[in-house]
Amino acid sequence: MSGTAMPEPAAYDALPDGVVVAGADQRVTVMNPAAERLLRRTAEQSLGRPYTEVLALQDAEGRDWWACTRPFDGLTTRTRQPERMLQLPDGRHLLVTSSFIRDPADRSTVRALVVAFRDTRTRDRQERERAELISIMAHDLRSPLASVKGFTATLLRAWERFNDEQKKQMLETVNADADRMTRLIGDLLDVSRIDAGRLELRPQVVDLVDLVRKAVDGRSAAEDARDRSFHVVATESLPETWADPDKVAQILGNLLENAVRHGAGAVTVRIDPEPEGGGTVIRVADEGDGVPAGAEQRVFLKFWRAGTGRGTGLGLFIVKGLTEAHRGRVQVGSGPSGGAEFTVVLPTNTPDFI
Ligand SMILES: Nc1ncnc2c1ncn2[C@@H]1O[C@H](COP(=O)(O)OP(=O)(O)OP(=O)(O)O)[C@@H](O)[C@H]1O
Ligand SMILES: [Mg+2]
Repeated sequence: MSGTAMPEPAAYDALPDGVVVAGADQRVTVMNPAAERLLRRTAEQSLGRPYTEVLALQDAEGRDWWACTRPFDGLTTRTRQPERMLQLPDGRHLLVTSSFIRDPADRSTVRALVVAFRDTRTRDRQERERAELISIMAHDLRSPLASVKGFTATLLRAWERFNDEQKKQMLETVNADADRMTRLIGDLLDVSRIDAGRLELRPQVVDLVDLVRKAVDGRSAAEDARDRSFHVVATESLPETWADPDKVAQILGNLLENAVRHGAGAVTVRIDPEPEGGGTVIRVADEGDGVPAGAEQRVFLKFWRAGTGRGTGLGLFIVKGLTEAHRGRVQVGSGPSGGAEFTVVLPTNTPDFI
């Protein structure tokens, strides 16, 4: 929109927000399809009618919004109303903004009132998700914190009563629980960065086989993987790939942890060139029960987990977010031994792919 020129009415048709425009005579001149849907009345019924009738908005106290704000004869310096939550007579809520197009020669004259509005479903959903995130994280942080607090308090109170072996055991638990909390908080930060599209990647040429070997060595050395076997099968020549090595390590770490925690038997990682020359395919397979049929998409959602596992359900959401930040893709299917097989395709990328 340049100066005070109004866009053609058709320009509003594609907008997801409802738009109602009233001319200097305070009658409706434009009503787009989203407005018809949100106001549950047609443009035909509304064009030429007073805007106060078409958009009978009330504030939270039930007062007539237009009588309060007086767009056409209120303050002449005002050119817009910031976003407000208002309600329709039937009680539904809308987020409403309005702008007043004034005559450049005579600022006291409003040539048009443009009102844009949207329903609150998206915002309600985001708020629900945020509240859910907080409640799950608070719950998951509480149990390791309770253990740290419990053991520390016990040691401080009765230091003399325990022998060295017992003290060492308690400190080991405290240490492991502190690690768990650090990981949870790290996951939470990653989730919020993924949600906000603010993941920072530091791309460099990576040796994917080396990254896989390191991730496997790290995971297989852990206590809970003692009786599991790990195999890495790599093709000799892989295309040169630009990626953030820390993030790739995080993807692999999550998949290997899942294979140990939710899967069973041997864990095999295969690394091959993508057949169409588009990059590298990394497959992480185990010999467990696999993910439940029908849940192949849902496993990547925030908080999704089968049954009441010990995890928070963020690992695969993060794997997907990190992979997609590399313009790659991830999916799950059934591996050669019937267990879950996660396939990550990483494109070769260029130094400036982000
Ligand atoms: N290898 C696997 N075999 C069978 N089920 C799996 C496997 N990997 C993941 N799942 C299922 O997918 C769910 C989601 O995995 P995800 O990594 O997102 O969360 P989590 O491991 O439960 O918790 P977190 O990773 O946040 O600690 C798991 O709870 C599990 O039910
Ligand atoms: Mg996990």
